[in-house]
Amino acid sequence: MSDIIIKAIDLTKIYKIHRFLKTEKVLALDRLNLEVKKGNIYGFLGPNGAGKTTTIKLILGLTPQTAGEVFVLGKDPRDVATKGKIGYLPEIAYYEKYLRIDEILSYYAGLYKMDSKFAKERIDYVLETVGLSLFRKRFLHEYSKGMLQRVGLAQALLNDPDLLILDEPTSGLDPIAQIEIRDIIKDLAEEGKTIFLSSHFLSEVELICTHVGILKNAKLIKWGPMGDLLKINKFFEIHIEANKEFENEITGYDVSKIRVEDKLIVSTEQAEFKDKVLSIAIKTKARILAVYPRQDSLETLFKKLMKGNEDVHTN
Ligand SMILES: Nc1ncnc2c1ncn2[C@@H]1O[C@H](COP(=O)(O)OP(=O)(O)OP(=O)(O)O)[C@@H](O)[C@H]1O
Ligand SMILES: [Mg+2]
Repeated sequence: MSDIIIKAIDLTKIYKIHRFLKTEKVLALDRLNLEVKKGNIYGFLGPNGAGKTTTIKLILGLTPQTAGEVFVLGKDPRDVATKGKIGYLPEIAYYEKYLRIDEILSYYAGLYKMDSKFAKERIDYVLETVGLSLFRKRFLHEYSKGMLQRVGLAQALLNDPDLLILDEPTSGLDPIAQIEIRDIIKDLAEEGKTIFLSSHFLSEVELICTHVGILKNAKLIKWGPMGDLLKINKFFEIHIEANKEFENEITGYDVSKIRVEDKLIVSTEQAEFKDKVLSIAIKTKARILAVYPRQDSLETLFKKLMKGNEDVHTN
């Protein structure tokens, strides 16, 4: 089997909204090309309305594409056998509130045609994994928002899927639960599962994702391995206990300066300017407090992309 788990080729979605005699068109996804490989944790980012959930629905075969193609595990996502290998956590999950979690999961186990002994073991396992074992006897209408989010995850994990698609998996969770879910996601990837998730938590995505795709106005504008994206903007930060002579000498160099009390923080992207700043500090007897190699966080990169200060990926 090829190690390409999701492949999208010029995948496009236009929603048509019918209002009285008029039809309005919404371009929700514009020629998406994407490859997600086995074992990747792919973070899909973008502002509200950028097209993340639409992409997920297309990958799951829940909505037809207007143009282009999508393959999941090498097949059309509507293929029944393929669906059995996917676990899906929807953005907003609706469950029958007057049922207990065991009843909900048993119902899904039936849909997956699991035999009853295996289903029981698997339900125990997923409830333990998502931390709901203690709440088995409560009805879902007695659950909190974060507990309901965990129900969704338990259901997504039930069939031991090769591919997990999670639409905002940690939204509504408390900080400890967020960490627990992150750990579960990382463990699953280590087992060789593939995870495709959308999220608005950029620091979380930076922590767990191996690859990122960033959508803006229905278009994928940046993508690649996390390390490569964050390497794009590397710079040096030099902390100096500055004196007047140092400040005078440094003026005119292509460096940025911020004063924090009696400390001057000088930043430059270029190694030769860093060396120059250090030699000026030595010459003017300004004390060098620290030199840090830095790189943009995912949050900084995201903000730049949304403001349009960054070039669009073209390869
Ligand atoms: N069923 C629908 N009918 C018409 N338009 C839709 C439908 N679903 C989504 N859209 C539109 O498609 C665009 C993309 O929506 P989508 O739900 O994919 O965004 P998103 O990136 O998931 O946003 P969020 O971060 O808010 O979840 C939006 O303009 C939205 O209004
Ligand atoms: Mg969404």
